[in-house]
Amino acid sequence: MKVGMIGTGGFSRMHAEILADMEEVKLQAVCGTSRAKAEAFASEYGGANGYDQLVEMLDSEKLDAVYICVPPFAHGEIERQLIERGIPFFVEKPLAADLEVPGEIMKALQKKKLITSVGYHFRYRNTVAALKKELEAHTIGMATGSWMGSMPLVSWWRNRDASGGQFVEQTTHLIDLIRYTLGEVEEVYAVEADRLMAKQHEHVTAPDVGSAVLKMKSGVIVQLSNTCMLPAGVSQIELQFFHSGGITKMDQSGLTKCTPAMEIKEKDSVNPYIRENDAFLHAVRTGDASKILSSYEDAWRTQEVTSAISKSAASKKTVQLGGK
Ligand SMILES: NC(=O)c1ccc[n+]([C@@H]2O[C@H](COP(=O)([O-])OP(=O)(O)OC[C@H]3O[C@@H](n4cnc5c(N)ncnc54)[C@H](O)[C@@H]3O)[C@@H](O)[C@H]2O)c1
Repeated sequence: MKVGMIGTGGFSRMHAEILADMEEVKLQAVCGTSRAKAEAFASEYGGANGYDQLVEMLDSEKLDAVYICVPPFAHGEIERQLIERGIPFFVEKPLAADLEVPGEIMKALQKKKLITSVGYHFRYRNTVAALKKELEAHTIGMATGSWMGSMPLVSWWRNRDASGGQFVEQTTHLIDLIRYTLGEVEEVYAVEADRLMAKQHEHVTAPDVGSAVLKMKSGVIVQLSNTCMLPAGVSQIELQFFHSGGITKMDQSGLTKCTPAMEIKEKDSVNPYIRENDAFLHAVRTGDASKILSSYEDAWRTQEVTSAISKSAASKKTVQLGGK
């Protein structure tokens, strides 16, 4: 299987490493913002060809699948070209910095059915499968969660128009997990503020603290908070679910179930990134997409929620979701 990679940054590398360990998969071509960077990246992975023009790469190579690992602002034309040519793609989250581009891509995908997969890798954790099962067995009252970390120092991340900001760029993982386990969102209310990062770095337009309340269609209330102002190396990423059976907590180390009788801990035993790559390439190879846990269409709904959160914070109003 011949695979193309778009982007030469940190996450292209993460996927390229996984692809390198797979049999019958060859990283055939890499496209970056400069040919030199793309060629340097490509040469590390079995002599793949490097390009700085997407159309040139797609015209020159016969690719079975393409990975898109570019910053949120760079989406749109890449997906349009792949859909037009009928090439299945894996795209890293988030789908874009806003909802407009994913809306156009969704329309194109409705006209031309294609295997797609989105990098919401938390869904592939075995502890998330256990979490989903546990929550299905109980009546959920509410959930709380936090994505507390430091600001990624790549220049696009601090620019709200380019990255979408903390909810769109990173907390999107938690919002996606909330949707995956609790269903669709009905309305959101959010607040955001600038506390520190704009004073410490130039050109920071992304807020560094935020909090959102989500009312789910089921009636469950969810409250999520985030920051990107912590010093590097300190983080707290977690969700807590409060339900008729007790408390279930999910964090980077795994799952904890607290009932009146006992506390049970479950750790992750699989690499979710390997599982999501396997699921996508299995679908491309066989046409069976049942192992893909996040399609473009599903991820669009997560993007709809993060966009609604940004809209609520900007307007200071509750935003209803369309739920299309
Ligand atoms: N799922 C996860 O856990 C996870 C973790 C980290 C990053 N990501 C996501 O992966 C994406 C990329 O992040 P990263 O850390 O690799 O960023 P990065 O800044 O390290 O790299 C981005 C790359 O995209 C390239 N690029 C930009 N516009 C392009 C275009 N039009 N055509 C070709 N290349 C282009 C840049 O030159 C750069 O090589 C982001 O959306 C990020 O959210 C996901």
